[in-house]
Amino acid sequence: MFKRNFKSDIESEIFHAISNCCNETKIECYAIGGFVRDLIIGKNLAKDIDILVVGSGIEIAKLTAKRLKIGSKITVFKNFGTAMFKYNGYDVEFVGTRKESYNKSSRNPIVKPGTLDDDLNRRDFTINTLGISLNKNSWGDLLDKFNGITDLENKIIKTPLEPRQTFSDDPLRMLRAARFSSQLNFKIDINSFNGLISEKERIKIISPERISEEINKIIMTSKPSVGFKILESTGLLKIIIPELTDLKGIEEIEGQKHKDNFYHTLEVLDNICLETENLWLRWAALLHDIGKAPTKQFVKKIGWTFHGHELKGSKMVYKLFKRLNLPLNNKLKYVQKIIYLSSRPIVLSNNNITDSAVRRLIYDCNEDIDDLLTLCEADITTKNPLRFKKYLNNFKLVRDKIKIVEERDSIRNFQPPVSGEEIMNYFKIKPSKEIGIIKEYIKNSILDGKIQNNKESAKLLMIKKGESLGLKNNAIE
Ligand code: CTP
Repeated sequence: MFKRNFKSDIESEIFHAISNCCNETKIECYAIGGFVRDLIIGKNLAKDIDILVVGSGIEIAKLTAKRLKIGSKITVFKNFGTAMFKYNGYDVEFVGTRKESYNKSSRNPIVKPGTLDDDLNRRDFTINTLGISLNKNSWGDLLDKFNGITDLENKIIKTPLEPRQTFSDDPLRMLRAARFSSQLNFKIDINSFNGLISEKERIKIISPERISEEINKIIMTSKPSVGFKILESTGLLKIIIPELTDLKGIEEIEGQKHKDNFYHTLEVLDNICLETENLWLRWAALLHDIGKAPTKQFVKKIGWTFHGHELKGSKMVYKLFKRLNLPLNNKLKYVQKIIYLSSRPIVLSNNNITDSAVRRLIYDCNEDIDDLLTLCEADITTKNPLRFKKYLNNFKLVRDKIKIVEERDSIRNFQPPVSGEEIMNYFKIKPSKEIGIIKEYIKNSILDGKIQNNKESAKLLMIKKGESLGLKNNAIE
């Protein structure tokens, strides 16, 4: 028997209110799903509470809301037979027990009211079928039809029914299996794992939004490699992000090997997760080497090369984001930029770090330069401790140099010190290509350190360059 006190007064208030309504109506209710799972493993972060009602979810939701004195704030989804309200930071959703039947060719199940058993049968994993009774006579008892508590203790993800059926019914569950495994650090039961392999093609019927939502959740776990290795070994990754599986494998020619860029990528992703919660920087880490598969070449006397993989990779991101319905706005541009510039800091650190190279990097990367360096540091995957220390230190030198150059030259968010308007006014000319030439010349001179980044120096250079192009200041003549 599982008895517990709920963590907060608010939870207790909600559950007692529901319990009183159950008692009054003689309708059975249970807290169910993720909330119960997380409560038992002590990872009580969830503020989403799902209530399973053996009867009308809408009726119990209305009565509970009335009891909590928020009667008018309830949202009813008549078509789904569900209702929800918000209470002191909690989202409480009520659903009546139901039965689903699936048609192979359709993504949408036919949903009908069902028994408690029907409802538990249609859930994804045994650890998500656990419920806690809110009924007066069995208050706090654990509802556990599939021995989910043992799977929770043994850290196992297992489908309640035959895996092929559970996955075929809702193929998104295959990604959820990988996600829960990554989130909770649980293993997937062997039968369920085989179910993933045999049902993998069904993932194709799932909309890209739902797929990318799960991928994002995997990326946001503390060790996403766990989830991605499952997706790879079951064949799911090849279907949803083939750009990543194309990085797999090691080739050897004339005794020269390159590293396995897929596993390297996963290491980089895990590394960066220790440093940032930024989903898009994590995406950049995941995709930073995708250009390596199409650019791979073996060059005699040199060995393996991936020439131009940064540009190629950054260009590949658009198609990938479009396919997965990820944002095609500044998030895409950010990921593309980080990938495109991903080798620049290392080139810098391997050479004498000149001021002008640093200025150019700051100019090209702008406010994202710290993120770029975070990726470069995460990219150090050598197992040789001396080398690791050396590479890391090189990036520290780059960071230090960036700080000095930034404070002195204010290149970040560079604004041309002389505008096109000023050039036109000075030389009394209309818009023309000369203006672009002068502006570019001034910008390059600043970045190369030939003049200082201020108006006075820029104006002098503008005059000199304008004259060399045959322009004159007619006001003086
Ligand atoms: N569920 C399911 N199949 C799905 C999605 C959900 O069987 N494809 C069931 C599971 O029992 C799950 C419950 O519906 O526990 C609630 O779903 P959801 O809120 O999406 O998942 P949680 O388990 O609560 O976890 P999370 O909030 O982290 O997604």
